[in-house]
Amino acid sequence: MSTTGFSTGLINAEQIMATGPEHIRLDHDPRYAHGSAYIDGVYTDIDHAAIPITDMGFLQADACYDVVSVTKGQFFRLDDHLERFEQSCAKFRLRNPLSRTETAAMLARLVQLAGTQSAYVWWAVTRGEMPDKGSERGNPAAYRNRMYAFVVPFIFIADDEQRRNGLDIVVSEKYIRIPPNAVDPTAKNFHGMDTRQALFDATDRKANWCVLCNDEGLLTEAPGANIFVLKNGELFTPRSGCLEGITRKTVMELAAELKIKASLIDMHADFLRDADEAFVTSTAGGVMPIRTVDGKVIGNDSNPITTQLHNLYWEKRWNGWLCTPIDYTTEA
Ligand SMILES: Cc1ncc(COP(=O)(O)O)c(C=O)c1O
Repeated sequence: MSTTGFSTGLINAEQIMATGPEHIRLDHDPRYAHGSAYIDGVYTDIDHAAIPITDMGFLQADACYDVVSVTKGQFFRLDDHLERFEQSCAKFRLRNPLSRTETAAMLARLVQLAGTQSAYVWWAVTRGEMPDKGSERGNPAAYRNRMYAFVVPFIFIADDEQRRNGLDIVVSEKYIRIPPNAVDPTAKNFHGMDTRQALFDATDRKANWCVLCNDEGLLTEAPGANIFVLKNGELFTPRSGCLEGITRKTVMELAAELKIKASLIDMHADFLRDADEAFVTSTAGGVMPIRTVDGKVIGNDSNPITTQLHNLYWEKRWNGWLCTPIDYTTEA
């Protein structure tokens, strides 16, 4: 636990996962030192993983993907991620060449090869190459969709120190989130130029995070994360225009356990500026407290509820909540 900084009492999850005996990396073939990968049917080490340059996933962001995390040698909410992935494929008319069971086994095999008990597990289905007959390009069935995946040691998009100090977030003025009737944000996709440019712009504005609104000024999401506001003891998160994050769903469930009302609503940026507490959520970081919005400290400069949710998230996971253990000994 940390005793200094904005979020006193916050578990140092990153440190625990880097050093705890049940979290550290197991013996593995040194070839997989940087991670393991699956490229269209072939397992390889990540340093030799390459995608065909003519794949439409690379050329036109024509793909969908998902990310699940592993801690203490267990996937978290694997079924939820696989279910969301199937829905993303369906929304973009992509076909996963692997069944759900095969996908799960392939991901487990990658974790096993890398020996990572704390892991970031990424997979995608791309459209594949343009059909031989260019005139067939409007026919989804004319493409051979491809599966790619990789596993690397777990990544925190806000490390222990940043979470302890709280994030400095700005509401993007230059960029809006891609509208849902351009690219459906509920299908996890590769279209990240809006959030990336907004993040660079945030750095120019001396902040380390940002959140984007839609064209009506309603909050949507942050780069790779959903946003929550706590106001008068209740939690709120945007209703639409964002990915339906698995960590967002988890926080709603944890809030119910703590008897905190949590709702999906439309909210303007001022609602965030006026928050008592606020945080962002992601598979690659859990619950990440926000300290300032547009340069101003929010609430009373303390975040007891966020800290409670943050710690409960990790503690329950480490106790096996909604987890799928990985067998590191027998070949998956
Ligand atoms: C655009 C976007 N929003 C939200 C999230 C958070 O979703 P999850 O909690 O499922 O990781 C992500 C995750 O990468 C994302 O890419």
